[in-house]
Amino acid sequence: MTEQALPFGEKYYPAIKKLMEIRRRSLEDPISFWDEKARELIWFRYWDKVLDDSNPPFFKWFVGGVTNITVNALDKWMKTDVKNKVAYYWEGEPGDRRVISYADLYREVNRMAKVLREDLGVKPDDRVVIYMPMIPELPVALLATARIGGIHSVVFSGFSPKALADRIVDAKAKVLITADGYYRRGKVINLKRNADEGVRIAAEQGVEVEKVLVVRRGGLDLDVEMKEGRDFFYDELAKKIPDNVYVPPEPRKSEDVLFILYSSGTTGKPKGIMHSVGGYMVWVYWSFKWTWDPRPDDIMWTLADIGWITGHTYIVYAPLMHGMTNVMYEGAPDYPAPDRVWEMVERYRVTIFYTSPTAIRLFRKYGDEWVKKHDLSSIRLLGSVGEPINPDVWKWYYEVIGRGETPIVDTWWQTETGAAMIAPAPGIALVPLKPGSATFPLPGVDADVFNDRGEPAKPGEKGYIVIKKPWPGMLIGLWGDPQRYIRTYWQRFSKPDQGVWIYYPADYAVKDEDGYFWLLGRADEVLNVAGHRLGTTEIEDAILHHPAVAEAAVVGIPDPVKGEVPLAVVVLREGYRPSRELEEEIKKVVREVLSPIAVPARVLFVNKLPKTRSGKIMRRLIKAVATGAPLGDVSTLEDEASVEEIKRAWEEFKRAIEESERILRGEA
Ligand code: PRX
Repeated sequence: MTEQALPFGEKYYPAIKKLMEIRRRSLEDPISFWDEKARELIWFRYWDKVLDDSNPPFFKWFVGGVTNITVNALDKWMKTDVKNKVAYYWEGEPGDRRVISYADLYREVNRMAKVLREDLGVKPDDRVVIYMPMIPELPVALLATARIGGIHSVVFSGFSPKALADRIVDAKAKVLITADGYYRRGKVINLKRNADEGVRIAAEQGVEVEKVLVVRRGGLDLDVEMKEGRDFFYDELAKKIPDNVYVPPEPRKSEDVLFILYSSGTTGKPKGIMHSVGGYMVWVYWSFKWTWDPRPDDIMWTLADIGWITGHTYIVYAPLMHGMTNVMYEGAPDYPAPDRVWEMVERYRVTIFYTSPTAIRLFRKYGDEWVKKHDLSSIRLLGSVGEPINPDVWKWYYEVIGRGETPIVDTWWQTETGAAMIAPAPGIALVPLKPGSATFPLPGVDADVFNDRGEPAKPGEKGYIVIKKPWPGMLIGLWGDPQRYIRTYWQRFSKPDQGVWIYYPADYAVKDEDGYFWLLGRADEVLNVAGHRLGTTEIEDAILHHPAVAEAAVVGIPDPVKGEVPLAVVVLREGYRPSRELEEEIKKVVREVLSPIAVPARVLFVNKLPKTRSGKIMRRLIKAVATGAPLGDVSTLEDEASVEEIKRAWEEFKRAIEESERILRGEA
């Protein structure tokens, strides 16, 4: 694992010293460090206190400060040349294009803000759910909501109506912004129909969405149903508003909520991760600057969806605060051909390209010829996010996409952390890279690796990544569930009686002899499928929607492209028999109830799930059987079970799986 530092060699070692020096300053005196950094942004009123830590773990940043993030993302450019710079080169899947300058974006944000405030009645702190495809009105919707002090909660457009409804209900949203539809793999998807269904399910659960704003994607031949008095086409409301409309940015307290973004946890219910107005703004501004070293003529393409945190931070807020030009794309990255992305990189002269290992593995699978057809010499930085990047995939990315000369910026972070936490920092000094390591924590990030007992792990010893100090971009809580916030993130290693608060991200990690961090994936029952977090229980709950299913257990198994895919093991109810058809039906239910991303690669049928005496499903045992791994050290396999019990369960379960496969092959 601790490979030689590649490929930048010793002449870059002074870079580590420089980074360490800034980090030392940031950690020794975080208050004056952040006090200085936050002043680079525009505030209506400066803070009285940089950090209020009087009620941990509910830390508050820049208390007394008042601002609005849209002033830093938009207004500040209107008196500069950036006004006429391109904010977004947008491209639809069929190839239609729109070019949006900062001035255009500013105008559109003001216009939509006006519509939201006046026609839809959105007031400060109201939750606005945004369920939209990757069209320019999506970033506009985030910014317009933020401008009037609303709290946005973006729901990925690939999510099912039920997933949408869960999020509407949890946040008690009264306004929904959606679109008529979009293109995906050449097909037109009717999003409004899903939105309607989501609104209907939410109403059944007692949360009535009052107003629905529908943006027309353009070019679609879709028949959408509109409910009189509830649904409004955005273009019809917008055309009544003059071009130069100005909606004053709502003054927001630094600790107010900027947005909620739901993410899967270890129980069925997704967590509403909350980010603050001031802390998020300051942190993502600086984290971005350190990781990407932004330059005036950069063209940045973050190939991700705004439905996830990567899109929030790296397609909307941070690049706009830096006056960057972004590429934004609607469709599938390999449609209509595997070189779609490279063709666009060449055409837009992209300088920073940022995506997930899943996408990189997909491109690699298609073969180098698709890449070689294009001139990618404009790229100066390549980024990776969302999963551990395998060293051989790293090397392919570096050699084939990066021509053997472009640094790979592997960024470790989470929805909860707002922006990159551990990453090479070319904006400070480029440290020597090691394929597969995200290198070092950024300034302000007091990261370490702890063992099971909460002591610092030895170099090379696998443990858990922890963050030992609050940082401005940290989540400020879980919507409506302060106890879960404490339990999930602060219980594991904190010592409240000693005033020690340690943030627990639930990722395995190793620190090597040189102090480099290697992030090794989730340490809890959360899968990472193609860079998307999915809770095992969440998928199990979806499977239980099928009337034939009595019990279900889901584990993640390795996949060459997606990193990990769900595998389901199911016990059927009386009167049902395993069959291929049933397997397909169960997959379909998951697709409909949750999302296509969550569909299990396989559904295996057994008579009984392996469980401990206390009834806990032995997921790790299922995983070991399914992947053909040896049983290994059983003492750590299941905390509560005896060794004998595990061995018996292991044998029984292996037989059950073989039996189920025979039935499916028609041999039984
Ligand atoms: O397990 C880590 C993995 O993705 C998780 C966070 O997922 P999410 O909140 O959906 O955010 C994804 C975009 C930041 C982490 O707990 N992860 C993220 N980046 C990396 C990573 N694992 C290894 N290396 C990374 N660079």
